[in-house]
Amino acid sequence: MTIDAAPPLHRPGLTPPSLPPTSLPQHVAVVMDGNGRWANARGLPRTEGHRVGEANLLDVVAGAIEIGVSELSAYAFSTENWRRSPGEVRFIMSFARKVLRTQRDVLHSWNVKMRWVGRTPRLWKSVLYELREAERLTAHNTGLILNLCINYGGRAEIADATRAIAEDVAAGRLKASSISEKTIQRYLYSPTMRDVDLFIRTGDEQRTSNFLMWSSSYAELYFSPLPWPDFNRSELWRACEVYAGRERRYGGAVDKVLHEEPGQAGDPLDDETPEDHEQ
Ligand code: FPP
Repeated sequence: MTIDAAPPLHRPGLTPPSLPPTSLPQHVAVVMDGNGRWANARGLPRTEGHRVGEANLLDVVAGAIEIGVSELSAYAFSTENWRRSPGEVRFIMSFARKVLRTQRDVLHSWNVKMRWVGRTPRLWKSVLYELREAERLTAHNTGLILNLCINYGGRAEIADATRAIAEDVAAGRLKASSISEKTIQRYLYSPTMRDVDLFIRTGDEQRTSNFLMWSSSYAELYFSPLPWPDFNRSELWRACEVYAGRERRYGGAVDKVLHEEPGQAGDPLDDETPEDHEQ
């Protein structure tokens, strides 16, 4: 089965729901799970699922552009995926190289800015080369930012950032007392990456699997029962509609049923400020 042809940017007769810009996720992250099971259920080797999933990724990119998402991150290969059979790892690496070579011109014509997010150890040099080429080709594009997360792990990213911070502190380039959340963000693989608003996982599994741990800390989670080869732009739009109906509070709270006048509550900590608790 060869699926080199990219889907069209616009599919005739298929239009995205019109959501107010404030209800639209700016950054969507996708864990493209379920390829192997999709293939095995059809009596095909697992790798056929990855092959078919390429077109779904392109369709979802097109759907993200159409609905107005600004940034899309796709988990194509994790630092834990090296545990797979050597044959599957070899397939995914050479497949990633092929996808990058064959699809970057299409993505470029869609004004997509491609970025690699991940770490270099173990990553095939030829894959890294294609990623750099894709980044170079699309560097000045102004449309959707597509983060290709290849050889990416959330804990590895935080460990790598911590090591770099420690080195800068030791070299006197950074004061330990000045380290804040913003400092850590600056040391991530992609310091300009926005926080993830909507985190989608396909394949009927409900976990985040070490993907964009720092950036997804307040993401809304959406789990689709569909395997990735059945997930497409319409499914992305469905997830965006669900997202638009969510209430995001970021740790804050609004009491919708007020029983007491402010100041009458009986909690002895009511009037304490955070400073009261400082040592
Ligand atoms: C997880 O499914 C999927 C992957 C590890 C690879 C996904 C990659 C693509 C769909 C396209 C590649 C695109 C680029 C840019 C490289 P799984 O194998 O874990 O499925 P399972 O849960 O059914 O076993």
